[in-house]
Amino acid sequence: MSPQPLGAEAHALPRLRWRRNLVGSRVLVTGASSGVGRAVALELARRGARVLATGRRGERLAEVAEAAAGLSGGPVLHAAGDITVPAFRRHLIDMATTQFGGLDLVVAAAGSGAIGRFSDATAETLTDIMAVDFFAPAELVRESLSVLQAGRDPAIVLVGSILGYHPLPLHAEYCAAKAALRSLAGTLRAELAADGIGVLLASLGPTESEFWNHLLTGHRPGWSSGRAMSASRTARIIVRALVWRRREVLPGWRAKGFALAARFFPRMIDRSLRRRMRRSRWPISSR
Ligand SMILES: NC(=O)c1ccc[n+]([C@@H]2O[C@H](COP(=O)([O-])OP(=O)(O)OC[C@H]3O[C@@H](n4cnc5c(N)ncnc54)[C@H](OP(=O)(O)O)[C@@H]3O)[C@@H](O)[C@H]2O)c1
Repeated sequence: MSPQPLGAEAHALPRLRWRRNLVGSRVLVTGASSGVGRAVALELARRGARVLATGRRGERLAEVAEAAAGLSGGPVLHAAGDITVPAFRRHLIDMATTQFGGLDLVVAAAGSGAIGRFSDATAETLTDIMAVDFFAPAELVRESLSVLQAGRDPAIVLVGSILGYHPLPLHAEYCAAKAALRSLAGTLRAELAADGIGVLLASLGPTESEFWNHLLTGHRPGWSSGRAMSASRTARIIVRALVWRRREVLPGWRAKGFALAARFFPRMIDRSLRRRMRRSRWPISSR
């Protein structure tokens, strides 16, 4: 049977409870081999969800699946591959459909960064960052909508960044991708409400993970190192926000403070960044 067009069944939506019940939920988590995605996969398993974990590193995923199975008491699936490849995304949705019988939640946590002046970077860096941080989650959402629509109390979690609120120097591609993701979350939230599909944007501040070890280009600027929140605490906050049907979550006071400053004092942020750039003597553009 072909899926109903989204929106057609809006009048038939069941009454939702205040709190989302995650027990037995069928969840796809991208970026689950490390950091925040891994911690979210474990937290969801701890709350009784059935998890399909994905990332490129198969051995890491096997370890996560074993740990998650110990928490949930049920089997946890994993599949290794590149989330920017359309055929692999299709494979993930098919796998959830055949093995779980459907999909209730999609958590898009896979992401990557690149550091350097925009003038020194290449078109390839921009393409690669947009591919993993924006196009992959956006298309994964589009491709999973018809399956999600048939799910139980379905929802999408997009893992964004406070840099989607206000950009930093040396992070041009990443900030642009996260700003686009934030914008997409807003559109989806309004469009999918009538279909009963919730959308949560998690805009993270500095978080302990392997993010800085896997930059596509460049290295972490000295001034960007701040005290980071643990991935497991971040995951607990994200999952709690999902349970309480929040539309957006900024884990920790640093993230909240930055978003507030971005809204009311953007010039103050820019002044402080200019000072930091001068002090760090970041090499001037080579072009
Ligand atoms: N850490 C922070 O301070 C921070 C702040 C704000 C937002 N975030 C966001 O949080 C999310 C999680 O990042 P993290 O901090 O937890 O970093 P991380 O530990 O490096 O995790 C990134 C995850 O993305 C996966 N990934 C990257 N490229 C992929 C690709 N092409 N195909 C499939 N999987 C891919 C990695 O798996 P494989 O390497 O196995 O493929 C890994 O599981 C990202 O969206 C990031 O932008 C992080």
